[in-house]
Amino acid sequence: MRVACISGSYKKDGNTSLVIKSLVEKLENSGIPNLKIKKISLSGVRIHPCRGCEKCRKSGKCVIKDDFHSIVKKIQKSDLIIIGSPVYFHDVCGQIKNLVDRSFSLWHEKQLRGKRVIPVAVSAELGEERTLETLRIWAQAHEMKIIRSVSGHGYKPGDVKNDEQMQRLVDATINDLICTGNLNERDIS
Ligand SMILES: Cc1cc2nc3c(=O)[nH]c(=O)nc-3n(C[C@H](O)[C@H](O)[C@H](O)COP(=O)(O)O)c2cc1C
Repeated sequence: MRVACISGSYKKDGNTSLVIKSLVEKLENSGIPNLKIKKISLSGVRIHPCRGCEKCRKSGKCVIKDDFHSIVKKIQKSDLIIIGSPVYFHDVCGQIKNLVDRSFSLWHEKQLRGKRVIPVAVSAELGEERTLETLRIWAQAHEMKIIRSVSGHGYKPGDVKNDEQMQRLVDATINDLICTGNLNERDIS
């Protein structure tokens, strides 16, 4: 199974990355054979906002030349997408919002259909539900399958390590992936 893990935070070792790291560790210990994990940090990555030109309607490709295209290649190759955002004003951060909006180019032909998604959101205190809703709406629009969402709490980088509820959600999510028929033959070959 090929997994693309996207952290939208500018803090490479921040709380969002730590929750994704927990999911990856749990995956690696799950016994799923032939796991290929691609870690993608959006820190310093240039993803401009969607211009709404809709030229992608015909071509299925975005006309803006930046790092979006290399991220898309990695997403397209994956079976499972773990996508995480720090909560900014009760929603996703700008990097993730730009990635989500620019994925309109893939939406017309449903290029991401059937992939599985684990949305992740980390807040200091409040707003993770609305943030996860943004990621779930994105996944549903692309006809991807949501395994489970994972939220965590922490303010300073590293704080989320003390969030036991987050760890329980990580365990339950990977168990759901394995136990409830979410793996198919392609995942293990
Ligand atoms: C611009 C900005 C907006 C934020 N908005 C919220 C918020 O609405 N609710 C909240 O609980 N925390 C908020 N926070 C705190 C972050 O969500 C929190 O520190 C998170 O752990 C950061 O994740 P990271 O370490 O992966 O960057 C905000 C932080 C910033 C910088």
